[in-house]
Amino acid sequence: MGFEVIGTGHFVPGEPVTNAALARVMDTSDDWIFQRSGIRQRHFAGEGQGASDLAFEAAKRALEMAKLQPKDLDYILFATMTPDYVFPGSAAVLAAKLGLEGTPALDIRQQCAAMIFALQLVDGLIKGGAAKTILFVGAEAHAGFMPWEDWDIVEGKREGEPSPEARARANEHRALAVLFGDGAGAMIFRATDRDAGLVAAKVHTDGRYAETLYVPGGGFRTRPYWKATHFDEQAHIPRMDGRELFKFAVTKLPQTARKLCEETQTPIESIDWFLAHQANARINKYVREHLGVPPEKMPMNIDRFGNTSAGTLPILIDECTRDGKLQKGELNMMLALGAGIHWGCALVRW
Ligand code: ACO
Repeated sequence: MGFEVIGTGHFVPGEPVTNAALARVMDTSDDWIFQRSGIRQRHFAGEGQGASDLAFEAAKRALEMAKLQPKDLDYILFATMTPDYVFPGSAAVLAAKLGLEGTPALDIRQQCAAMIFALQLVDGLIKGGAAKTILFVGAEAHAGFMPWEDWDIVEGKREGEPSPEARARANEHRALAVLFGDGAGAMIFRATDRDAGLVAAKVHTDGRYAETLYVPGGGFRTRPYWKATHFDEQAHIPRMDGRELFKFAVTKLPQTARKLCEETQTPIESIDWFLAHQANARINKYVREHLGVPPEKMPMNIDRFGNTSAGTLPILIDECTRDGKLQKGELNMMLALGAGIHWGCALVRW
């Protein structure tokens, strides 16, 4: 028993925010951002808009493609690193928005690597008989950790300059802030007797590197778990060791992909599409060149969305489904690495 993808959808909030718009509140430029990351614009969730709201819109679109109603789902997997509440996780919130009362909804916390872990869960749930129709959604509302204070200037609602102090505070986090954007991607998986589904996956975690990308403030190591000083210390903004993550990604992703191909005796040339997480266009170029994959086999959308963390792969897959790239019977590889550090590759027969 395998699985097939019967519906996909994605949603991004609001108008695109260009690199030039970010340069109004931080010392940065379109050139710097595009050269270093391949990003031209991103979207941000509005005030009061949580990951579950973005997920709901993406899920509706996937359900529509699959011609299903929410009640037809028998399991939900929700991945986000920017949940609506510290707890409970957003899976329950999404399930309620879909009008479900009792359908199991599981939160996973694998950040940008969520999709690869989710594929193993989907495979296990289907093979174990626990579910036949599963909704996976990855969604992020990173806006809440952006380091600028003047959203109205960023969004072009007000002309003007931030205060020099506000600009200096934002500058401290500019390398992180330019990379992330908000959005949600949804996929519906259904059990099938067809030769389709997870061929094999290799997933890894190395928690020794947890602090290469993490939020220092909040968290139940302290009493109380959120201190009055945290905001002044900008402890709600993630700290990122960009260079270390970059090195980790360009080493581990090609290594894992090669190993997976060796173990499954899959020639790299026989793979139809390489669906890679979009953290930085330079990371993907490196991985692609290292594996000898032509550019046309690795679709990219980072220029329009930035890094939408758990949302990235399902958004990319929705775009590639809707523009007719992904076809039944193809063999596709997915690759991703995220904070934790979690990373992995999966081979999926479409
Ligand atoms: N605009 C202009 N200048 C900047 C900016 C900016 N936004 N950010 C940093 N700089 C400056 C730095 O201050 C530095 O200046 P200096 O040389 O005078 O000190 C210079 O640019 C170079 O900075 P580096 O950090 O060395 O730049 P690098 O080429 O490494 O690129 C980047 C930084 C884009 C963050 C890169 O390291 C990267 O993409 N790393 C991977 C990050 C990643 O993948 N994160 C997501 C993980 S996935 C997940 O789970 C969410």
